[in-house]
This record gives sequence, C-alpha cells and structure tokens, in this order.
Amino acid sequence: MKNFKDGVAVITGGGSGLGQALAHVAVSRGMKVVLADVQAEALEQTLEQLRALNAEAIGVVLDVADAAAVEMLAERAEAHFGPVNLMFNNAGVASGGLIWESTDKDWDWLLGVNVKGVANGIRAFTPRMLTAAAANPGYQGCIVNTASLAGLLTGPAMGIYSVSKHAVVALSECLYHDLGLVTEQVRTAVLCPSYVTTNIGQCHRVRPAELTNSNEPTRSQMATAALSQNNLNNGSLTAAEVAEITFRSIEQDNFYIFPTNEVHDLLRDRFKHIVEEENPDLPYAQSEFLNARRELLKEAISR
Ligand SMILES: NC(=O)c1ccc[n+]([C@@H]2O[C@H](COP(=O)([O-])OP(=O)(O)OC[C@H]3O[C@@H](n4cnc5c(N)ncnc54)[C@H](O)[C@@H]3O)[C@@H](O)[C@H]2O)c1
Repeated sequence: MKNFKDGVAVITGGGSGLGQALAHVAVSRGMKVVLADVQAEALEQTLEQLRALNAEAIGVVLDVADAAAVEMLAERAEAHFGPVNLMFNNAGVASGGLIWESTDKDWDWLLGVNVKGVANGIRAFTPRMLTAAAANPGYQGCIVNTASLAGLLTGPAMGIYSVSKHAVVALSECLYHDLGLVTEQVRTAVLCPSYVTTNIGQCHRVRPAELTNSNEPTRSQMATAALSQNNLNNGSLTAAEVAEITFRSIEQDNFYIFPTNEVHDLLRDRFKHIVEEENPDLPYAQSEFLNARRELLKEAISR
C-alpha cells in the first residue's frame, strides 16, 4: 500500500501505547482516523492530541470482544469518513504465571480480547474493504493485526498470552491466504513487537468485573508481572518507533513486521528443533535474556 494521504485508518486500542502511536503516524501521513478503545478517558485524551494537530479524528468506546460493537464501529467509520483503508486490530491485554494456575476467567478475558477481538475486526471490516475494492480499482486496503514476539516463540510463565498471540499470527496468515484467493487490493500484515514501553503492564485496569478473579494472584503470577514490567520499562524501541516501522512495512507490502532483529535467530532455532524433533527448551539455550528470565522465575517461585 503506497498512498496513505486522505485515507482512513481505524485503530483499536487507540487510547494508549502502540495504538496511540499508530494514530499519530497515521495523522502525520495525512490520514483521517477512527480510534476505538474500552477506556473513554484515554480515548478522549488521544483524540484531543490529534485534533490539536488539525487531524480529522473520531472515537468509539467499545470492547473489541463484543462482535456487535465492532460491527457498529465499521458502520460508524464508513458512514463518517467513507471506505476504510487501514484497519489496525491492535487492542490487547496480557497475563502471566504458571499455565495451570490460570483461571477460566483468565482464559475468557485474554482469548476474548486478543483473539476474538481480532477475529471480530476481520469479520466486520474485510467484506467492506472488498466492496470498496470492487467499486474502485484505485482503492487499497490493509488489515494489520498486532500479535507479539510471543506469537512466534514460547517461554515459561507466559502461557495464555503466548497462546493468544500464536492464534493472532495463525489468524493473520489464514487471512493472507484467503485474501490471495480474491483480491490484490486488500492485504494483511502481522505486527510482532518485542517489549515496548506502554501501559500494558496495567491492563488489569480494563478487565471487566465479571471476568475478574476473586482469588489473590499466585507467586508465579506476581513474579511474572514484576519481571515483565521491568522488561517493558527497558524496551529497546519506543512505541513511536514501532509505529513508524509499521507504516514503512505496510508501504513495502511486508506481511511479517518484526521491529527488532532478535527474532530471526530464535525463530530459526525454534523451527530447526521442531524439524529435528528436539525438545522445546533447547531453542532458548542460546538466549541470555530468556535464560536469565527463566532463572529469576525459578528463584521467585521457589522462595
Ligand atoms: N508493549 C509491549 O511490549 C507489546 C509487545 C508485543 C505486543 N504488544 C501488543 O500491542 C498491543 C497494544 O498494547 P500496548 O502495549 O500498546 O498496551 P496499552 O495497554 O498501552 O494499550 C492497549 C490499549 O488497548 C485498550 N484495550 C484493552 N482491552 C480492550 C478491549 N477489550 N476493547 C477495546 N480496547 C481495549 C486499552 O484500554 C489500551 O488503551 C496489544 O495487542 C499487545 O498485546 C505489546
């Protein structure tokens, strides 16, 4: 996709972190934006920032896990600005800890937002993009799903999050194949960042009451949260840098967007071990960072 100017971008999770940064880059490229977020206040603050830049921007408060609400988002965006060119299925939440300690509510919350939220976006926006493409040979669209490095690699104490992000990578690859059957005008991409300083460490702030656990967090969950927060605070790229890289990748029609290089060796190693039928802990033997994380977790859990 080469031309962003005067196009329309929809961004879920647009009130904070990567979504907010993507909104700023979209506006800097001359796009109109529709931001969706479950947090009304954060959404309004981001919209104010964008309008101060003379951007055309509207907001919709919704929960991406609610299919009907995402359908209404698509209707609203199109009614207000016309056909959508970029759809960022970006809203996401995280949790950690030993996989068997995760509750039914943990599974429902993470899979609801991270997986169903993306599926809802694909279902609501793809048919509209295909209609726009059929009506106008000059139309170009792209659906960009935010996964994570955790969508390509597994590690200790990041169970549901990693499962959900692997699902986002698979969902995106399936969408890529299916779009290839019907059009060249609508594309898709999957964004797989490593740690970026955002507010995801405080994502419990958006957890619905009916999906909140009544029990206290376990030792492994507390240890993982503390380690992840430390990693988030020390991310090697800012959200703004990741957003800029994402737009450049969309411009080049890249499907896999890896803002940092560290993934390549780890991925090669993971698949080499799968092909050679070796056990899964071996791929990480070479990673100082992942080994250190594992040792810190072991120590925290056994304390
Ligand atoms: N920060 C990182 O290190 C990192 C790394 C890899 C992937 N990601 C992914 O990036 C995406 C954005 O996260 P972020 O790091 O910017 O976090 P963030 O918490 O700063 O922003 C996420 C936004 O999504 C919104 N949101 C959460 N649940 C929602 C729901 N049900 N419906 C609508 N909006 C909802 C939040 O209110 C928030 O504004 C997520 O999918 C996350 O998994 C983040």
